[in-house]
Amino acid sequence: MPRNNKTPLIQRIARQANETFKICSSSAIGDSKVFLDRQAELSTLLTQIRAADLKIAPPKKGSKPSDQTPPVTYMHICETDTFSMGVFLLKGDASIPLHDHPGMHGMLKVLYGKVRIRCFDKLDNPPCAECETAFDPPLLPFQKDALRRSLLRSTGEYSEESGPCILTPLKDNLHQIDAIEGPAAFLDILAPPYDPDDGRDCHYYKVLQTVSKTVEKSEANGEEEMWLLEIPQPEDFWCGGEPYPGPEVSV
Ligand SMILES: [Fe+2]
Repeated sequence: MPRNNKTPLIQRIARQANETFKICSSSAIGDSKVFLDRQAELSTLLTQIRAADLKIAPPKKGSKPSDQTPPVTYMHICETDTFSMGVFLLKGDASIPLHDHPGMHGMLKVLYGKVRIRCFDKLDNPPCAECETAFDPPLLPFQKDALRRSLLRSTGEYSEESGPCILTPLKDNLHQIDAIEGPAAFLDILAPPYDPDDGRDCHYYKVLQTVSKTVEKSEANGEEEMWLLEIPQPEDFWCGGEPYPGPEVSV
């Protein structure tokens, strides 16, 4: 029997993530055939992984989490200079608010439950002469600097049967993740990892409602231009930690 078949799938995923993303030092890497081939192989491995492979199970039906527990918890699996990998667990109807991954790639694979993911691209900001009156509620003067033009690229639902949701430094880099129909968990790979000291801090956003056509809002091919406001981390969102119970991973 090939040695590979005895290696836990999560270990094979970690090795493949390392092989895929260690060549990410070039900004043109997204077009590199080698990178795309390796990422496709990683995607195939991720599609196969299930909660049981990580010794994780959904909460028992009827068990009610206390309001004091975090809406989202994170199980750290491994982190190198190249990538980080862990599992996010969302209580029923919990959300991870709209946030970005500056200069990073990401792959997200649902392990149990179902999530809805809205993906945005950040666009270059044009001048916004009408900003003071164009939004409902109106912007406060200091908020103009926190305004970001964006493109809503997709809204999709993912379950354990789905392949991974993929983000790149330029495409689908912002996302909001909502657990629907109960609790959910997903495996998350980010490359390179968040590092505020290296310009990769996480920022949160909210979608602004416009009140007039004076601010451009076009819709074509299901993609819609929107205005986002960078905000502090929402008060109703915080992320706790819990131990990872699955097979040991080394890279
Ligand atoms: Fe994310």
